[in-house]
Amino acid sequence: MELDLTREGLVELLGREDFSPVYALADQVRRENVGDTVHIRALLEISNHCRRMCTYCGLRAPRLDLPRYRMDPEEVVAAACEAAKVGYRTIVLQSGEDPWFNVRTLGRIVSAIKAKTGMAVTLGCGEVPPEDYAFLKLAGADRYLIKHETADPQLYRRLHPDSTLDKRVGCLRTLKKLGFETGSGFMVGLPGQTLETLADDLLLLASVPCDMAGIGPFLPHPDTPLRDGTAGDAELTRRCVALARLLLPTANLPATTALTVRGDNGQVFSGGANVVMRKITPNCYKRLYEIYPANLPDTDIPAQRQQLEEQIKSLGRVPL
Ligand code: 5AD
Repeated sequence: MELDLTREGLVELLGREDFSPVYALADQVRRENVGDTVHIRALLEISNHCRRMCTYCGLRAPRLDLPRYRMDPEEVVAAACEAAKVGYRTIVLQSGEDPWFNVRTLGRIVSAIKAKTGMAVTLGCGEVPPEDYAFLKLAGADRYLIKHETADPQLYRRLHPDSTLDKRVGCLRTLKKLGFETGSGFMVGLPGQTLETLADDLLLLASVPCDMAGIGPFLPHPDTPLRDGTAGDAELTRRCVALARLLLPTANLPATTALTVRGDNGQVFSGGANVVMRKITPNCYKRLYEIYPANLPDTDIPAQRQQLEEQIKSLGRVPL
Protein backbone atom coordinates (compact mmCIF):
# COMPACT_ATOMS: atom_id res chain seq x y z
CA MET A 1 0.00 0.00 0.00
CA GLU A 2 1.40 3.39 -1.04
CA LEU A 3 0.29 6.20 1.27
CA ASP A 4 0.63 9.91 0.69
CA LEU A 5 2.56 11.22 3.70
CA THR A 6 2.69 14.86 2.61
CA ARG A 7 0.85 17.47 4.71
CA GLU A 8 -2.29 17.15 2.56
CA GLY A 9 -2.05 13.37 2.55
CA LEU A 10 -1.71 13.21 6.34
CA VAL A 11 -4.76 15.45 6.83
CA GLU A 12 -6.78 13.17 4.58
CA LEU A 13 -5.55 10.04 6.40
CA LEU A 14 -6.29 11.47 9.86
CA GLY A 15 -9.88 12.18 8.84
CA ARG A 16 -10.59 8.84 7.12
CA GLU A 17 -13.77 6.92 7.83
CA ASP A 18 -11.93 3.57 8.01
CA PHE A 19 -8.42 3.76 9.38
CA SER A 20 -7.91 0.00 9.89
CA PRO A 21 -5.67 -0.52 6.81
CA VAL A 22 -3.34 2.19 8.12
CA TYR A 23 -3.16 0.55 11.55
CA ALA A 24 -2.33 -2.77 9.86
CA LEU A 25 0.45 -1.13 7.85
CA ALA A 26 1.83 0.65 10.95
CA ASP A 27 1.86 -2.69 12.77
CA GLN A 28 3.77 -4.30 9.90
CA VAL A 29 6.28 -1.43 9.69
CA ARG A 30 6.76 -1.67 13.47
CA ARG A 31 7.39 -5.43 13.28
CA GLU A 32 9.84 -5.15 10.39
CA ASN A 33 11.83 -2.28 11.89
CA VAL A 34 11.81 -2.66 15.68
CA GLY A 35 10.46 -6.19 16.13
CA ASP A 36 8.10 -7.53 18.76
CA THR A 37 9.92 -6.15 21.79
CA VAL A 38 8.07 -3.71 24.03
CA HIS A 39 10.54 -1.70 26.09
CA ILE A 40 9.45 -0.94 29.64
CA ARG A 41 10.98 2.25 31.07
CA ALA A 42 11.01 3.36 34.68
CA LEU A 43 9.84 6.94 35.16
CA LEU A 44 10.93 8.85 38.25
CA GLU A 45 9.57 12.34 38.92
CA ILE A 46 12.37 14.00 40.87
CA SER A 47 10.94 17.50 41.43
CA ASN A 48 7.61 19.24 40.87
CA HIS A 49 9.08 22.74 41.18
CA CYS A 50 8.66 24.59 37.90
CA ARG A 51 9.47 28.10 36.78
CA ARG A 52 7.32 27.90 33.63
CA MET A 53 3.75 29.06 32.96
CA CYS A 54 2.47 26.42 30.49
CA THR A 55 -1.28 26.98 30.49
CA TYR A 56 -2.18 23.25 30.31
CA CYS A 57 0.10 21.90 33.02
CA GLY A 58 -0.81 21.22 36.64
CA LEU A 59 2.74 22.01 37.77
CA ARG A 60 2.80 25.55 36.30
CA ALA A 61 4.59 28.15 38.45
CA PRO A 62 1.49 30.29 39.19
CA ARG A 63 -0.09 27.38 41.11
CA LEU A 64 0.76 28.61 44.58
CA ASP A 65 -1.57 26.09 46.27
CA LEU A 66 0.41 23.04 45.11
CA PRO A 67 2.87 21.69 47.72
CA ARG A 68 6.26 21.43 46.03
CA TYR A 69 8.87 18.71 46.59
CA ARG A 70 12.38 17.77 45.54
CA MET A 71 13.79 14.29 45.96
CA ASP A 72 17.22 14.06 47.58
CA PRO A 73 19.89 13.03 45.08
CA GLU A 74 20.58 9.93 47.24
CA GLU A 75 16.88 9.08 47.16
CA VAL A 76 16.91 9.35 43.36
CA VAL A 77 19.87 7.00 43.03
CA ALA A 78 18.31 4.53 45.51
CA ALA A 79 15.04 4.45 43.53
CA ALA A 80 17.01 3.84 40.32
CA CYS A 81 18.80 0.90 41.96
CA GLU A 82 15.45 -0.58 43.00
CA ALA A 83 14.19 -0.33 39.43
CA ALA A 84 17.36 -1.98 38.06
CA LYS A 85 16.94 -4.84 40.54
CA VAL A 86 13.53 -5.79 39.11
CA GLY A 87 14.70 -5.70 35.49
CA TYR A 88 14.41 -2.12 34.23
CA ARG A 89 17.19 -1.19 31.77
CA THR A 90 16.26 2.45 31.30
CA ILE A 91 15.32 5.13 33.78
CA VAL A 92 13.72 8.43 32.86
CA LEU A 93 14.33 11.27 35.31
CA GLN A 94 11.65 13.88 34.84
CA SER A 95 11.01 17.19 36.59
CA GLY A 96 9.55 20.63 36.19
CA GLU A 97 12.06 23.29 35.16
CA ASP A 98 13.72 23.46 38.56
CA PRO A 99 16.95 25.49 38.73
CA TRP A 100 17.81 23.76 42.04
CA PHE A 101 18.54 20.63 40.00
CA ASN A 102 21.31 22.39 38.08
CA VAL A 103 23.44 20.41 35.65
CA ARG A 104 26.16 19.74 38.21
CA THR A 105 23.67 18.09 40.56
CA LEU A 106 21.92 16.25 37.73
CA GLY A 107 25.29 15.19 36.32
CA ARG A 108 26.33 13.69 39.65
CA ILE A 109 23.07 11.75 39.84
CA VAL A 110 23.42 10.47 36.28
CA SER A 111 27.02 9.34 36.83
CA ALA A 112 26.10 7.56 40.07
CA ILE A 113 23.15 5.73 38.45
CA LYS A 114 25.28 4.67 35.49
CA ALA A 115 28.10 3.45 37.73
CA LYS A 116 25.80 1.51 40.05
CA THR A 117 23.31 0.03 37.57
CA GLY A 118 24.56 0.41 33.99
CA MET A 119 21.04 1.52 33.03
CA ALA A 120 20.45 3.92 30.16
CA VAL A 121 19.54 7.31 31.62
CA THR A 122 17.00 9.57 29.97
CA LEU A 123 16.42 13.11 31.19
CA GLY A 124 13.30 15.23 30.81
CA CYS A 125 14.13 18.39 32.72
CA GLY A 126 13.27 21.09 30.23
CA GLU A 127 15.16 23.87 28.47
CA VAL A 128 18.74 24.70 29.47
CA PRO A 129 21.56 26.40 27.50
CA PRO A 130 23.51 24.28 24.97
CA GLU A 131 26.59 24.12 27.20
CA ASP A 132 24.46 22.58 29.95
CA TYR A 133 23.14 19.88 27.63
CA ALA A 134 26.78 19.23 26.65
CA PHE A 135 27.72 18.88 30.32
CA LEU A 136 24.92 16.36 30.88
CA LYS A 137 26.09 14.32 27.90
CA LEU A 138 29.60 14.21 29.34
CA ALA A 139 28.15 13.10 32.67
CA GLY A 140 26.75 10.06 30.88
CA ALA A 141 23.14 10.94 30.01
CA ASP A 142 22.04 8.92 26.98
CA ARG A 143 18.72 10.44 25.97
CA TYR A 144 16.72 13.62 26.43
CA LEU A 145 12.98 14.14 26.18
CA ILE A 146 11.68 17.58 25.29
CA LYS A 147 8.40 17.54 23.38
CA HIS A 148 7.60 20.25 20.88
CA GLU A 149 3.98 20.04 22.20
CA THR A 150 2.48 21.75 19.11
CA ALA A 151 3.92 22.66 15.72
CA ASP A 152 1.67 25.73 15.38
CA PRO A 153 3.87 28.69 16.43
CA GLN A 154 0.90 30.89 17.45
CA LEU A 155 -0.73 28.13 19.46
CA TYR A 156 2.67 27.33 20.99
CA ARG A 157 2.97 30.94 22.12
CA ARG A 158 -0.53 30.95 23.65
CA LEU A 159 0.21 27.74 25.56
CA HIS A 160 3.70 28.87 26.61
CA PRO A 161 3.60 32.62 27.24
CA ASP A 162 7.27 32.46 28.29
CA SER A 163 8.82 30.77 25.22
CA THR A 164 8.65 30.08 21.50
CA LEU A 165 8.42 27.04 19.24
CA ASP A 166 11.71 28.03 17.59
CA LYS A 167 13.50 27.91 20.93
CA ARG A 168 12.02 24.49 21.65
CA VAL A 169 13.00 23.03 18.29
CA GLY A 170 16.43 24.62 18.76
CA CYS A 171 16.85 22.56 21.95
CA LEU A 172 16.00 19.36 20.06
CA ARG A 173 18.51 20.15 17.33
CA THR A 174 21.23 21.01 19.87
CA LEU A 175 20.62 17.74 21.74
CA LYS A 176 20.78 15.77 18.52
CA LYS A 177 24.08 17.44 17.54
CA LEU A 178 25.52 16.58 20.95
CA GLY A 179 24.81 12.89 20.37
CA PHE A 180 21.74 12.44 22.55
CA GLU A 181 18.92 10.22 21.43
CA THR A 182 16.18 12.80 21.35
CA GLY A 183 12.55 12.46 22.20
CA SER A 184 9.89 14.89 21.05
CA GLY A 185 6.14 14.57 20.88
CA PHE A 186 2.95 16.53 21.05
CA MET A 187 -0.54 16.70 22.49
CA VAL A 188 -3.68 15.81 20.56
CA GLY A 189 -6.87 17.79 21.09
CA LEU A 190 -5.40 21.10 22.25
CA PRO A 191 -7.90 23.96 22.04
CA GLY A 192 -7.46 25.62 18.64
CA GLN A 193 -5.67 22.65 17.06
CA THR A 194 -6.77 21.33 13.65
CA LEU A 195 -5.93 18.23 11.58
CA GLU A 196 -3.51 20.46 9.66
CA THR A 197 -1.71 21.19 12.94
CA LEU A 198 -1.43 17.46 13.63
CA ALA A 199 -0.02 16.89 10.14
CA ASP A 200 2.58 19.59 10.89
CA ASP A 201 3.29 17.95 14.26
CA LEU A 202 4.01 14.64 12.54
CA LEU A 203 6.22 16.23 9.90
CA LEU A 204 8.13 18.17 12.56
CA LEU A 205 8.99 14.89 14.34
CA ALA A 206 10.36 13.58 11.06
CA SER A 207 12.33 16.74 10.26
CA VAL A 208 14.46 16.84 13.45
CA PRO A 209 14.45 13.74 13.17
CA CYS A 210 13.47 12.37 16.57
CA ASP A 211 14.51 8.99 17.93
CA MET A 212 11.44 8.87 20.19
CA ALA A 213 8.04 10.54 20.08
CA GLY A 214 5.50 10.65 22.88
CA ILE A 215 2.04 11.43 21.53
CA GLY A 216 -0.75 11.85 24.05
CA PRO A 217 -4.22 13.37 24.34
CA PHE A 218 -4.59 16.75 26.02
CA LEU A 219 -6.30 16.33 29.42
CA PRO A 220 -7.75 19.48 31.03
CA HIS A 221 -6.44 20.11 34.55
CA PRO A 222 -8.96 21.85 36.87
CA ASP A 223 -6.35 24.21 38.35
CA THR A 224 -5.10 25.62 35.03
CA PRO A 225 -6.43 28.24 32.59
CA LEU A 226 -7.43 25.40 30.21
CA ARG A 227 -9.71 23.76 32.81
CA ASP A 228 -12.80 24.11 30.57
CA GLY A 229 -11.19 22.45 27.55
CA THR A 230 -12.28 19.09 26.11
CA ALA A 231 -10.02 16.07 26.52
CA GLY A 232 -8.25 14.85 23.38
CA ASP A 233 -9.69 11.84 21.59
CA ALA A 234 -8.04 8.42 22.08
CA GLU A 235 -8.75 7.27 18.52
CA LEU A 236 -7.27 10.41 16.96
CA THR A 237 -4.22 10.01 19.22
CA ARG A 238 -3.76 6.40 18.06
CA ARG A 239 -4.01 7.55 14.44
CA CYS A 240 -1.19 10.01 15.07
CA VAL A 241 0.96 7.25 16.62
CA ALA A 242 0.35 5.00 13.60
CA LEU A 243 1.32 7.77 11.17
CA ALA A 244 4.39 8.56 13.28
CA ARG A 245 5.41 4.91 12.83
CA LEU A 246 5.10 5.26 9.04
CA LEU A 247 7.14 8.48 9.01
CA LEU A 248 9.75 7.25 11.52
CA PRO A 249 9.96 3.47 11.03
CA THR A 250 12.71 2.87 13.61
CA ALA A 251 11.57 5.33 16.29
CA ASN A 252 10.61 4.43 19.83
CA LEU A 253 6.94 5.27 20.22
CA PRO A 254 5.47 4.98 23.71
CA ALA A 255 1.90 4.24 24.69
CA THR A 256 1.66 7.42 26.75
CA THR A 257 0.15 7.43 30.24
CA ALA A 258 -2.29 10.12 29.08
CA LEU A 259 -3.57 7.77 26.37
CA THR A 260 -4.13 5.07 28.98
CA VAL A 261 -6.05 7.59 31.08
CA ARG A 262 -8.32 8.13 28.03
CA GLY A 263 -9.16 4.44 28.00
CA ASP A 264 -6.58 2.78 25.74
CA ASN A 265 -5.74 -0.60 27.21
CA GLY A 266 -3.21 -1.79 24.73
CA GLN A 267 -4.82 -1.09 21.33
CA VAL A 268 -2.04 1.39 20.51
CA PHE A 269 0.46 -1.49 20.54
CA SER A 270 -1.21 -2.99 17.47
CA GLY A 271 -0.93 0.36 15.69
CA GLY A 272 2.76 1.21 15.90
CA ALA A 273 3.73 1.66 19.56
CA ASN A 274 6.67 -0.25 21.08
CA VAL A 275 7.45 1.40 24.43
CA VAL A 276 5.69 1.88 27.75
CA MET A 277 6.74 3.86 30.81
CA ARG A 278 5.82 3.04 34.38
CA LYS A 279 6.07 5.55 37.20
CA ILE A 280 8.29 4.42 40.05
CA THR A 281 7.91 7.72 41.93
CA PRO A 282 7.43 7.19 45.69
CA ASN A 283 3.77 7.66 46.68
CA CYS A 284 4.36 10.71 48.86
CA TYR A 285 5.57 12.56 45.75
CA LYS A 286 3.48 10.87 43.09
CA ARG A 287 0.28 12.61 44.26
CA LEU A 288 2.02 15.97 43.86
CA TYR A 289 3.09 15.34 40.28
CA GLU A 290 -0.24 15.65 38.53
CA ILE A 291 0.49 17.43 35.26
CA TYR A 292 -3.05 16.28 34.42
CA PRO A 293 -5.66 14.48 36.57
CA ALA A 294 -4.86 10.76 36.39
CA ASN A 295 -5.90 8.85 39.52
CA LEU A 296 -2.97 6.45 39.27
CA PRO A 297 -2.54 3.54 41.69
CA ASP A 298 0.12 3.57 44.42
CA THR A 299 3.64 2.70 43.30
CA ASP A 300 4.75 -0.90 43.80
CA ILE A 301 7.92 -1.27 41.74
CA PRO A 302 8.24 -5.09 41.53
CA ALA A 303 4.50 -5.86 41.30
CA GLN A 304 3.79 -3.25 38.61
CA ARG A 305 6.78 -4.35 36.54
CA GLN A 306 5.52 -7.92 36.63
CA GLN A 307 1.97 -6.86 35.80
CA LEU A 308 3.19 -4.94 32.76
CA GLU A 309 5.31 -7.86 31.56
CA GLU A 310 2.24 -10.09 31.70
CA GLN A 311 0.06 -7.56 29.85
CA ILE A 312 2.69 -7.29 27.11
CA LYS A 313 2.97 -11.06 26.77
CA SER A 314 -0.82 -11.34 26.53
CA LEU A 315 -0.61 -9.04 23.48
CA GLY A 316 1.80 -11.52 21.89
CA ARG A 317 4.77 -9.22 22.39
CA VAL A 318 8.08 -9.52 24.24
CA PRO A 319 8.69 -7.33 27.31
CA LEU A 320 12.21 -5.98 27.86
N1 5AD B 1 -2.68 17.00 29.30
C1 5AD B 1 -1.96 16.11 28.59
N2 5AD B 1 -0.63 16.09 28.56
C2 5AD B 1 0.01 17.01 29.29
N3 5AD B 1 1.31 17.23 29.44
C3 5AD B 1 1.44 18.26 30.27
N4 5AD B 1 0.26 18.73 30.66
C4 5AD B 1 -0.67 17.97 30.06
C5 5AD B 1 -2.08 17.95 30.04
N5 5AD B 1 -2.81 18.82 30.74
C6 5AD B 1 2.31 16.45 28.72
C7 5AD B 1 3.19 17.35 27.86
C8 5AD B 1 4.53 17.23 28.54
C9 5AD B 1 4.46 15.89 29.21
C10 5AD B 1 5.39 15.73 30.35
O1 5AD B 1 3.14 15.78 29.63
O2 5AD B 1 3.25 16.84 26.54
O3 5AD B 1 5.61 17.27 27.64
